[in-house]
Amino acid sequence: MTSQEQTPLFTGLVNHMNRNPIQFHIPGHKKGVGMNPDFRAFIGDNALGIDLINIEPLDDLHHPQGMIKKAQELAAEAFSADYTFFSVQGTSGAIMTMVLSVCGPGDKIIVPRNIHKSVTTAIIFSGATPVFIHPEVDKELGISHGITPEAVEKALSANPDAKGVLVINPTYFGIAADLKRIVGIAHSFEVPVLVDEAHGVHIHFHNDLPLSAMDAGADLAATSVHKLGGSLTQSSVLNLREGLVSHERVQSVLSMLTTTSTSYLLLASIDAARKHLAVNGQALIDETIHLANLTRDAINRIPNLYCVGSEILGSEATFDYDPTKLIISVKNLGLTGYDVEGWLRKHYRIEVELSDMYNILCIITPGDKKKETEALVEALDKLAWERSGYAIQKSVPVKIPEIPLLSMSPRDAFYADTEVIPFLEASGRISAESIMVYPPGIPIFIPGEIITAENIRYIQENLKTGLPVQGLEDETLHSIRVIKEHKAFR
Ligand SMILES: Cc1ncc(COP(=O)(O)O)c(C=O)c1O
Repeated sequence: MTSQEQTPLFTGLVNHMNRNPIQFHIPGHKKGVGMNPDFRAFIGDNALGIDLINIEPLDDLHHPQGMIKKAQELAAEAFSADYTFFSVQGTSGAIMTMVLSVCGPGDKIIVPRNIHKSVTTAIIFSGATPVFIHPEVDKELGISHGITPEAVEKALSANPDAKGVLVINPTYFGIAADLKRIVGIAHSFEVPVLVDEAHGVHIHFHNDLPLSAMDAGADLAATSVHKLGGSLTQSSVLNLREGLVSHERVQSVLSMLTTTSTSYLLLASIDAARKHLAVNGQALIDETIHLANLTRDAINRIPNLYCVGSEILGSEATFDYDPTKLIISVKNLGLTGYDVEGWLRKHYRIEVELSDMYNILCIITPGDKKKETEALVEALDKLAWERSGYAIQKSVPVKIPEIPLLSMSPRDAFYADTEVIPFLEASGRISAESIMVYPPGIPIFIPGEIITAENIRYIQENLKTGLPVQGLEDETLHSIRVIKEHKAFR
């Protein structure tokens, strides 16, 4: 048995359960006996038997010395990392750890404008100042891709004192930038690269998929094992290549942000998923790519639908792509992605990963077989046939306004005195809220930024064209929370 075939944590927990210990410790359900019998019967005694806590023989995620340490070491080997830390708080927890490990109050961090909310949270917690880069926007699809090496170079030349560059790679839609070049540029400034790899756990395990963060030489990568790697929801890993960031710092920040009651079910599921990916990943992902490509071709034979393939490659921000993601442009049916999502649910019991104004996104994984993908193609074929009389060549009205000036750090804005004023009178005031237009899901302003007349006009135009504007406390968009201006005393 090679070392990657071992599952020290999962096996250790099962062995412990099989010894049938008499438990005088939490969890109080004690192997399920003390809980609602309906839930116990539903979940099953195996899952409840390893729902345990950090008693001495079972190690402790906060100070791993035993089976968790061994499981993390095997994961590091599998991901080609120097260290791997397990997260029971998803990739959100791992992202906050990355940012808080490199940034303190007043430090700059270079980030794409379309960051996940966990990055914004970490920026607020740390007191760091974000330096934003606009991601490239796809005018055909109305989605945003990654940031380009040129944009990173420009941002670093202007801010060589930045403490980190954060990259989303691959994006939710599976598009990857030239991460290796980005890492090379950042490292020439001795700045670490933090990768939001929430949608890329599998890419490390197949040669035809985009380069993983660790293979590209990045310093930290927050990776959702639960999204595409087969572990239980909420379980992720944080991979580290040592050099610019120390593993002791990362371990202590992760520990500060993590519950003391770590779920052993989640931890064991990471251990088991790592083995499956390391041992069987290449073969399983081979089949998945084949199935996804067959499905893509079939969808592209349906009139007025377009499923994105390798033709999207070639720009700096679309350096590579993950073919297991099916981005299906539905705009020419004369429907929105939201309409199509609802139609598929209602008529075919099909649930998609996401929808926006112009597209739906379906993910194909080793959990799919031809039966499922054929059901999707059949449903889309039926819908396209029903809509054949309404088909139009629709263009995507996506443009993005300039990034406003940041007048105070997002943390200062978060803690400042605020007031609510009419939205149309907000020009020149500092926002205490974030507001976003979908697509392409890029904030128009965030807390601390100065609202401009151009921003207000842009939001109104989007509302007029029917694009969803999100984020304001006042969902009617008539008012906005801004930083209170203190009048001078006479
Ligand atoms: C781009 C991106 N980053 C980070 C996350 C957070 O991951 P998690 O749900 O594992 O906390 C998500 C979740 O959807 C995401 O889409």
